[in-house]
Amino acid sequence: MPHALIIGASRGIGLELARQYLADGWEVSATARTAAALTALDAMGATPCALDVTDAASVEAFGRFVSAARYDVAMHVAGVMERGDASTAPSVTAFDAVMHANVLGAMRIIPIVAPRVAAARGCFGFISSLLGSVANADSSVTWLYRVSKSALNMAVRAARQDYPGATLVLLSPGWVRTDMGGASAPVSVADSVTGLRRVVASLSPEDTGTFRNYEGRTLPW
Ligand SMILES: NC(=O)c1ccc[n+]([C@@H]2O[C@H](COP(=O)([O-])OP(=O)(O)OC[C@H]3O[C@@H](n4cnc5c(N)ncnc54)[C@H](OP(=O)(O)O)[C@@H]3O)[C@@H](O)[C@H]2O)c1
Repeated sequence: MPHALIIGASRGIGLELARQYLADGWEVSATARTAAALTALDAMGATPCALDVTDAASVEAFGRFVSAARYDVAMHVAGVMERGDASTAPSVTAFDAVMHANVLGAMRIIPIVAPRVAAARGCFGFISSLLGSVANADSSVTWLYRVSKSALNMAVRAARQDYPGATLVLLSPGWVRTDMGGASAPVSVADSVTGLRRVVASLSPEDTGTFRNYEGRTLPW
């Protein structure tokens, strides 16, 4: 049975990824930060593990959880949004919170999880955003968030050299109706996740380090 790991599965895109892989008959391991979310993942049939990517002790314990696993697919979904623009400098608190969650978090997880994906010659997807595209930056709305997703793109693209057995890919899910995306977003979480799973399943090792949207289109950096 293929095995998927979903990092950040309490709600939104991560929860739907867990739901769809389970419905397809996969073994699913999934992380969340609260006892209630972990209980809900367990009840769905996933193997839950507590993880806050901004907490070094939590990441260390997660490392023990994954140490003997082989993941055909791993998806790093955990992320936070910040909506300010370039009219105001971000506070140090906001900068640290967003960069720690969206960038440092992934940089901590990659050395732990990428070898476990390489062991299965699998695919490791990272939910980035078109807002992280430098070429596409036509406004400063969500300024700090954009910077964090650009940095995530660099972290993953650079790391692909170190894990040649795993296919690392940056993924834009579209503008999705979740707590983060809001009620007026045009893409349903089910359609976004169906597309993301299709893209991940279609990739070959030579696609490592690419930036795709949920429909499979290659995006500009
Ligand atoms: N929705 C969109 O339109 C959109 C567009 C482009 C990219 N994205 C990206 O897609 C990903 C998922 O977004 P979403 O729309 O599903 O958002 P969401 O509903 O707000 O869910 C965010 C998820 O990230 C988890 N998370 C946040 N900080 C974390 C931390 N420090 N450690 C572990 N988990 C953490 C949350 O856990 P808790 O429940 O514990 O907070 C939650 O599971 C994010 O990376 C986001 O940037 C979303």
